[in-house]
Amino acid sequence: MTLNTPPVCDYTNSDYQASFWEHADRAYEDGAEAVALRRLLPARGTLLLELGAGAGRNTPRYAGYERIVLVDYSHTQLEQARARLGDSKRYIYVAADVYKLPFVDGLFDGATMIRTLHHMADAPLALAQARRVLAAPGIFILEYASKLNLKAIARYLLGKQKWNPFTREPVEFVELNFDFHPAAIREWLGKLGFKIERQLTVSHLRFPLFKRLLPLKLLVGLDALFSLTGNLWQLTPSVFVRATLPANNDTLAVLPGFFRCPACGGTDMQEKPSGIQCNSCRHHYPLENGIYDFRV
Ligand SMILES: C[S@@+](CC[C@H](N)C(=O)[O-])C[C@H]1O[C@@H](n2cnc3c(N)ncnc32)[C@H](O)[C@@H]1O
Repeated sequence: MTLNTPPVCDYTNSDYQASFWEHADRAYEDGAEAVALRRLLPARGTLLLELGAGAGRNTPRYAGYERIVLVDYSHTQLEQARARLGDSKRYIYVAADVYKLPFVDGLFDGATMIRTLHHMADAPLALAQARRVLAAPGIFILEYASKLNLKAIARYLLGKQKWNPFTREPVEFVELNFDFHPAAIREWLGKLGFKIERQLTVSHLRFPLFKRLLPLKLLVGLDALFSLTGNLWQLTPSVFVRATLPANNDTLAVLPGFFRCPACGGTDMQEKPSGIQCNSCRHHYPLENGIYDFRV
């Protein structure tokens, strides 16, 4: 098992939730995402994996699922999520790297990854991990930042931006922050066996002037309307995809366990009061303040 995975964009001690969402003018983006999730999520599910859960901003929106596993590399983000959502059988908090998910194959019947793929230097590798831990049939809701958005196209055509929004390779506009081409995302998902059921474009009106002039409800309502064209074209900065693994896939949840060792890949994992121990390589993963820590 290779441990050489790409670098992580570390949110340790970041006040992202407060500075980006609560104290900034982003009620429109948050409302537009809530609409997209309502449209894409199934009414019911058993075990949902939330990849890059952050401070749990979206977690209450997964109300149809019996249990939710919140994964984030940042322990402090998960502490904020835990403070928001509390301790219950419904939520499991896991500090881990998306590239090395500590779960057995085919464990989840649903997964989401919102505003997180844009930190992945190797997006296909991250998507392959999501696919590995999903059962078939399973549902994957992915949000990604699109390089093919109208602002980027206009800037490129006017000579104000060097990178080409029409080509398929990701663009790293700030260190460990990437925009992707919609066709590349579809290709990667397709190669992993996902069928793309629906695409919703989000944040059509992400311009300061619109936000100043139009009331929030109207902005979100208009966005909800425009987003229905998402299957036809994707020209917004943010795109949601609902992808499914067809039921005849061969990776139905067959393993009895839950966790898988991210260091050696072993599935003989023993629960102890202090955390989880891998009985293959003897690695111990602590449980601290209600959060399992699988970062290696
Ligand atoms: C922009 S925040 C989004 C949080 C949340 N999904 C939301 O929309 O509010 C990105 C999150 O991804 C997490 N993250 C980045 N790289 C990661 C990795 N390799 N493994 C796990 N989490 C990662 C960060 O710690 C951060 O909490």
